[in-house]
Amino acid sequence: MADSPLRFLRELLDPYEPLLDRLFLFGTVYGTWNVFKCCYYVLSGFRRYILRIGASPVTVAKLGEWAVVNGATTSLGTAFALDLAERNFKIILIGNSDTKLQNTAKEIEDVFGTEVFGILADFTQGLRVFEDIKELLTGLEVGLLVNNVAVRYDYPKWFEELSTQRMLHLLNIDVIGASMMTHTLLPQMLKREKGMIINICSSIATAPPTPLMTVYQSAMSYIHTFSQALHYECVGRGVIVQALLPSFVQENTERTSILAPPPHVYARHALNQIGFSSSSSGHWVHALLGWVLQFVPDSVWVWWTRGVNINLRSKGIDEKLVRRTALLNILKHSKDISFEETVTRKRSQSQLAPTLTQESPTIDRRRSHSFQSGNILISKH
Ligand SMILES: NC(=O)c1ccc[n+]([C@@H]2O[C@H](COP(=O)([O-])OP(=O)(O)OC[C@H]3O[C@@H](n4cnc5c(N)ncnc54)[C@H](OP(=O)(O)O)[C@@H]3O)[C@@H](O)[C@H]2O)c1
Repeated sequence: MADSPLRFLRELLDPYEPLLDRLFLFGTVYGTWNVFKCCYYVLSGFRRYILRIGASPVTVAKLGEWAVVNGATTSLGTAFALDLAERNFKIILIGNSDTKLQNTAKEIEDVFGTEVFGILADFTQGLRVFEDIKELLTGLEVGLLVNNVAVRYDYPKWFEELSTQRMLHLLNIDVIGASMMTHTLLPQMLKREKGMIINICSSIATAPPTPLMTVYQSAMSYIHTFSQALHYECVGRGVIVQALLPSFVQENTERTSILAPPPHVYARHALNQIGFSSSSSGHWVHALLGWVLQFVPDSVWVWWTRGVNINLRSKGIDEKLVRRTALLNILKHSKDISFEETVTRKRSQSQLAPTLTQESPTIDRRRSHSFQSGNILISKH
């Protein structure tokens, strides 16, 4: 009988000593391997995001004269367009609202004095839209395409709650939009053996399954896989295809944080590290966040995001009700005012884009195009 628990344990394990030695050896090798992996990750992150050694320069000389940015009228899209204008690219903006296009074009022209024009295009309108864009871009040396356009849910929803129209719009804009724009511009890049396609998706693309975001997450995963596969198709042919996976950016400067940089900071970081790989977070903070999250087991992620999204869904429904009531009130009190005034109030209340009325000095109206009646690619209505 052993006189101490430790001695008892030793006696108990004695017959298994060779096995324990092997386990210890395996543990040491596995631990060392992980330490190496960790060091490699930190060093390559340092090289990519801080030293930027080996990045592919985003310059006119390297790529070509023109840069096309779709979804260019807000947040990240505008930030990329501004940064590219600063790098002396001539800019083509593609957006869904004439007024926003004009404002963005004017901002770019005022700040950098570069040539810029806008193409008004609704990506939900089908194949015709992309044929028109192709025609408008014919003859231009487009060296860089930024596929930024995307729509999300207004709040997380169960799949069956998503209207058919919303789902088809999302797929048309997020999936078909980037694919068709790439299909339109890649051939001329390959012909010149230079060019770059940046597909902005989201960190959700590589996250474990995220309930109540099913269609958006699947669309982002498509863009991610599409970019990676195409990247390897283009290796050695002069064209770089890269997916960017931001986590959060925050336009409101009062609410920016270390985890959610403002769009212009994200865009600058991302453009400075293009070309290391077929896919990247774009900003070191998002890369770090992605690295930490990979240790979260899938089941924990699914359980956590499901809870959070169910909460956000309830909040979203409440806010929608409040907005709807406010709108009804306006309409109720608008009997005395003209139809135009009612529509204007309704628009500002629901924060819809303004109407297509103003002329812009910065957009070449011959090139600016309104696509109202394209063939419908997926949806039929
Ligand atoms: N913001 C973030 O925190 C965040 C995080 C992760 C990933 N991302 C990704 O970053 C990209 C941009 O995000 P964002 O937040 O800047 O998006 P956003 O503000 O919602 O901008 C979307 C852009 O797409 C345009 N657009 C919308 N519907 C369109 C249509 N039917 N046809 C043509 N254009 C249309 C919008 O133009 P109008 O305004 O004129 O409609 C706008 O310029 C997306 O790919 C998104 O997945 C963003």
